[in-house]
Amino acid sequence: MAEEEERAPAAVVFDALGLAYEEAFATSASHLASLGWLVERLKPGSRVLDVGSGTGRPTARVLVDAGHRVLGVDVSPVMVELAARQVPEAEFRLGDIRELPLAVGAFDAVCVYFSLLQMTRAEQAAVVGKLAAALRPGGLAVLATVPVDVEGVDVTFMGQPVRVTSFAAGDFARLAADSGLSVLAEENVMFTPAHPDGGPEPQVFLYCRRDEG
Ligand SMILES: C[S@@+](CC[C@H](N)C(=O)[O-])C[C@H]1O[C@@H](n2cnc3c(N)ncnc32)[C@H](O)[C@@H]1O
Repeated sequence: MAEEEERAPAAVVFDALGLAYEEAFATSASHLASLGWLVERLKPGSRVLDVGSGTGRPTARVLVDAGHRVLGVDVSPVMVELAARQVPEAEFRLGDIRELPLAVGAFDAVCVYFSLLQMTRAEQAAVVGKLAAALRPGGLAVLATVPVDVEGVDVTFMGQPVRVTSFAAGDFARLAADSGLSVLAEENVMFTPAHPDGGPEPQVFLYCRRDEG
């Protein structure tokens, strides 16, 4: 137990969930549509960073099948192991995106699907800023989160205790814009995960491009 307390809280939660997360969320039409948006715009062989890559499905799987080179980063060893097994054509690294150095302009696209929620607001802003800098000018980003105006609220997520911090949709879009991303489109939806404890949750998908120059 003492060891668990030293680990990133997200690692504890997502190690416990593993494939159950994919079973509950991977069919999201909005998630798949946002991947379609990236695939339509990226040149073959584009370099894509998937932050909080989970089980590798659907994100890395769709991007690899479309011919792109995907690097997934996740703080949960169980998720990294699942992703490496399910999408062997991609590269997955175990790490905390808050601490991982990223080369400036190294990626053609960045994906963030629901992986910021266990960070403070300052950490989320710092991570989005770092990701914007890691995009080449004109590079694309999809940023998805649960747009609720809460800080450090304890909830039960798929049976796991988890502390959540997020932003209202407008504030999340401003955070992206303040990081040097143009928000080209924003989709707000309600999604109900396929899980006995899953009620409808709001989700926002920001379709972004790194400003040139
Ligand atoms: C809600 S799941 C979403 C997984 C995947 N993005 C998807 O949409 O299918 C969030 C993922 O982000 C990872 N994560 C959370 N905080 C992280 C951090 N600081 N660094 C890297 N990964 C993180 C979790 O371990 C988990 O796999």
